Formats: sequence, structure tokens, C-alpha cells
Amino acid sequence: MVYGRDFRSCKLCGRIYEIVESGGLRFRIRGLCPEDKEQLIRFYESLSEETIYTRFFTIVRYFDPYVEKMISTICSLVIVAVEEGSGRIVGVAEAYIDDRGIAEAGIVILEKYQGRGLGSKLARHLISVLKEFGAKKLYGYVLSDNSRALSLAKKLGAKIVREAPGIIRVEIAMD
Ligand SMILES: CC(C)(COP(=O)(O)OP(=O)(O)OC[C@H]1O[C@@H](n2cnc3c(N)ncnc32)[C@H](O)[C@@H]1OP(=O)(O)O)[C@@H](O)C(=O)NCCC(=O)NCCS
Repeated sequence: MVYGRDFRSCKLCGRIYEIVESGGLRFRIRGLCPEDKEQLIRFYESLSEETIYTRFFTIVRYFDPYVEKMISTICSLVIVAVEEGSGRIVGVAEAYIDDRGIAEAGIVILEKYQGRGLGSKLARHLISVLKEFGAKKLYGYVLSDNSRALSLAKKLGAKIVREAPGIIRVEIAMD
């Protein structure tokens, strides 16, 4: 059993998964490093309220505790998309695995960079990392009018379960 071990994000630090070219820009898809903390806080704080709401279903203003948890929690796996040149984080895919090997995931791309395929790439790499770490199932929540996220989930083979008015739970079996 691999899950239940310490997956701290630094385990993925330094791992480069892919370089993506889009619209004359290059993006590095890599594991999150503890040194990314301040940049990651700035990334979340630069998102529009609409994007924050579609990701968290609430409005969050201070991301320091959230990012601190992401970096220090023993069961978190986080992959980021970084714009080459500026070094700016433009996307984050994260998952938390419980002791049964079930992972809750979330993903967000900075508005200006959405629709370039970065979300799809981050999600696919997160799924392969989860498999590598022994996860059995992945789930996430999406607002029912979030057509882009639902389209991405379907493309990844997710099963869709309507949970509550306005919210959809998507699940991907890993085995
Ligand atoms: C959802 C999100 C992560 C997708 O990332 P992205 O980089 O924008 O998505 P991609 O460019 O990889 O496109 C994903 C799919 O959505 C489709 N798509 C793009 N724009 C779309 C739209 N307006 N409506 C429906 N589908 C759309 C694309 O066609 C693509 O499928 P394809 O490869 O078969 O063409 C991103 O838009 C985002 O951060 N949204 C806000 C946060 C959020 O909703 N998170 C999900 C809940 S945790």
C-alpha cells in the first residue's frame, strides 16, 4: 500500500512532466516545490472572483493558510503550470489522498491562460501521479453550469453523479 505514506508536495519538486507550447508561449508542467509558496499565494490572489467561485464555490480572499496547508499536508500532490520566461505560476492541479486511497482533486487555470489545453495537461499528469502513488479513485466537485470543467472531466473518462442542486460530483476509477 503506497497511500498513507508522506506524499508532501516536495516529493514532486523538480519533476518536469511536459513543456507545452501555445500561442507563442511556453509552459512548464512540473511538481510544486515548497519554495513556490509566495508565488502560489500571488497566483490564487490574482484570480477573478468568478474563477475563485467556480473553483471553491465560495469567495476566498486570503490564501496564505490554504497554500500553507497545500505545501505542508502529508497527503497532498500538487502539479503546476509555469510560464517560461516570467516564471509565473498560471495553473494548479492538486489532490489529497485519504488512507483508503481515495483522492479529492481540484484544478484552476488563470483566466488569461484558459482554453489553451493547460487544464487538460495538468489533469492528465495529476491522474498519472495519483496512479503512481497508489490512489484507487479520484473525485471532484464542479458547478453544474461549468461546461468547460465538465467537458474536461468527460474527456478524462469521469463518471458524473448529480449530488445537489447546482453541484455535480465527478469520479474517475483508477483500477
Ligand atoms: C476548468 C479548467 C481547469 C479547464 O482548463 P483549461 O486549460 O481552460 O481547459 P482546456 O483548454 O484544457 O480545455 C478543456 C476542454 O474544455 C473544452 N472547452 C473549452 N472551452 C469551453 C467552453 N467554453 N465550453 C465548453 N467546453 C469548453 C475544450 O474544448 C477542451 O476539450 P477538448 O480538448 O476536447 O477540446 C479552467 O477553465 C479553469 O480553471 N476554470 C475555473 C476553475 C474550475 O472551474 N475548476 C474546476 C472545478 S475544481
